[in-house]
Amino acid sequence: MKTLWHHARLVTLAGASGWGWIEHGALVTEGPTLQWVGDAAALPTGLKVDAEHDLGGALVTPGLVDCHTHLVYAGSRAREFEMRLQGQSYEDIARAGGGIRSTVAATRAADDATLYAGTRRRALALQAEGVTTLEIKSGYGLSAEHEARCLRVARRVGRETPLTVRATCLAAHALPPEFEGRADAYIDAVCAWLPVLHAEGLIDAVDAFCDRIGFTPAQTRRVFEVARTLGLPVKLHAEQLSDQGGAQLAAEFAALSCDHLEHLSEAGVQAMAQAGSVAVLLPGAYYFLRETKLPPIDALRTAGVPIALATDHNPGSSPTLSPLLMFNMACTLFRLTPEEALRGMTVNGARALGLADRGALVAGQRADFVAWSIDHPSELAYGFGQRPAVRIVAGGRETAA
Ligand code: NIG
Ligand code: FE
Repeated sequence: MKTLWHHARLVTLAGASGWGWIEHGALVTEGPTLQWVGDAAALPTGLKVDAEHDLGGALVTPGLVDCHTHLVYAGSRAREFEMRLQGQSYEDIARAGGGIRSTVAATRAADDATLYAGTRRRALALQAEGVTTLEIKSGYGLSAEHEARCLRVARRVGRETPLTVRATCLAAHALPPEFEGRADAYIDAVCAWLPVLHAEGLIDAVDAFCDRIGFTPAQTRRVFEVARTLGLPVKLHAEQLSDQGGAQLAAEFAALSCDHLEHLSEAGVQAMAQAGSVAVLLPGAYYFLRETKLPPIDALRTAGVPIALATDHNPGSSPTLSPLLMFNMACTLFRLTPEEALRGMTVNGARALGLADRGALVAGQRADFVAWSIDHPSELAYGFGQRPAVRIVAGGRETAA
C-alpha cells in the first residue's frame, strides 16, 4: 500500500548536522518504509497512491527512539523517595536491601497479567509522546525463570503494540537475596542463563550494572564474554555513581553504548570514541537522584562520540514517562542544544540499539514519524510538560497520539 503524506514541514535530520529542514515537504510511504521524502514540488510526476493524508502544515520529525528503559516491573518506590528526602542516600537504601531488590520482590510476586498490563501501560504512555521504537531491559527478575518472564513481557509489548521493541537482558543488574555474599556464583548463573534465553529468541543485547552497588569490571567482563560467544551486542550502565573504568571495558567488546556516564574519565571518553560506542545520557536519573556531577559532555563532543538521550524509565532512579521532559532536562541540566537532544532520541538513539534503518526521514528508512503542533523543533525541548504530538505513524501506519 502506497500512501502520500503532504502539507508537512519536515525536520528530516538527514546528514550529520542541522535540522534537514524541508519547508514544503511530502513523504511517500510504501508499506512500512519511506519510499520518497522531499519538497512537494518535486514529487515524481504521475505518482499513483492508494491513500493521501493532509498533515495540515504540521512540523514532522522522525519517530522518537527511547533507547534505555526498564519498563518491566511491579510495585512503586515512592516510599524510598520519601526516605531519600529524609536524608538516606540511594546507595544506602540499596545496601539495606531496598532499591532494586525491593522492585525484584514486587516483580516476582506479580502475576503475569499484572506485569504485562503495567508494562504495556507505560509503553503506551511513551508512545503517546512520540516514541515509535523502545528498548526494554529485564533486570527485576534476577532468576532464570523471572528474567525469562520479564523478557517475554517485553517481546509481547513489541507484538501487541505499534512500537518496535528491542529487548535487552540485564540479569547482571543487582545481586538477588538468594545469592547474598556470592556475587561470583550469581555471575556464573547469569552466564548459564544467557544461552538459554538467547535460544528462546528473547534477547537482542546484553547489559550490566558495573558499579559499587552493582558488579565489578571482572564480573561484567565474564558476562560480556558469554554475550560475545553468542554474537550478542553489549551495552553498559557505566560510571553512574563512580568511575569503574566500565567504558574502557565495554569498548573492548565494541559496546553499542555506555549509559549514564556522570563519572566518565577522559580515558573512558577516548575508549568510547575508538570503539564507536554511543554515550546515552539519562538526565531523568541525574535529576531524580540529585546528582551534581555532570557527564563530560564537552569531552564527548570533542572526541566525536555520538550522544543519545533516553528516559531510563525505572521505579527507582527515573520514574518518568515523558521523553519530551528529557529533552528539556538535557538542555537545561546538561546544556545540550535542542538539535542534539532531538538527534539523541532519534538517529543516535537508533544507533545505540544497533538499528541503522531509522532515526532520520530519508528514503529507504522505516516510516516512523511524528507530526507536532509546533512551529520550530526547539519547542520540543522548550515547552516542558506540553504534549504537542498530534499524529504518530509507526511502520507506515497511523497510531493513536
Ligand atoms: O538505570 N543503575 C541501575 N539501574 C537503574 C536504576 C534501577 C533502580 O533503582 O531500580 C538506572 O538508574
Ligand atoms: Fe538504566
